[in-house]
Amino acid sequence: MVLLTNENLVKEAYKAREFAYSPYSKFKVGAALLTKDGKVYRGCNIENAAYTPTNCGERTAFFKAISEGKKEFEKIAIVGHFDNVKEEDRDYCAPCGVCRQVMVEFCLAKEFEVIIAKGEDDYKIYTLEELLPLSFSNENLS
Ligand code: THU
Repeated sequence: MVLLTNENLVKEAYKAREFAYSPYSKFKVGAALLTKDGKVYRGCNIENAAYTPTNCGERTAFFKAISEGKKEFEKIAIVGHFDNVKEEDRDYCAPCGVCRQVMVEFCLAKEFEVIIAKGEDDYKIYTLEELLPLSFSNENLS
């Protein structure tokens, strides 16, 4: 258990969003993934002219962490919106289905927390199980 406030993790997600590469959709996403040993991995969405190689911010954060040997995760904060939308008109950006499936590969669905924010102090928290019930995971193959 690591002491980093949810507000600070959301701030990290906003910092990650600054590097979003999304010239096609213009939708910028930032994610901040907290490992059980207290490290934060930031990720942004990275689009591509061929569209399908696009990587979401959440998966960028996960792949960065996993590629550096991290295997245990506590929670992730996610922010996503267009630049030209006023703060009061923004929506929560929930992770796409593909990202949820990647999360369930590496996290305990009952425990892993997904924080979706539309402001530094305006966020909702879900367990991964709430976002991806009845999932297919490595447990099905063991
Ligand atoms: N996107 C994310 O990065 N995360 C999400 O949870 C939803 C969508 C990105 C993908 C694409 O670059 C843009 O947002 C529009 O779909």
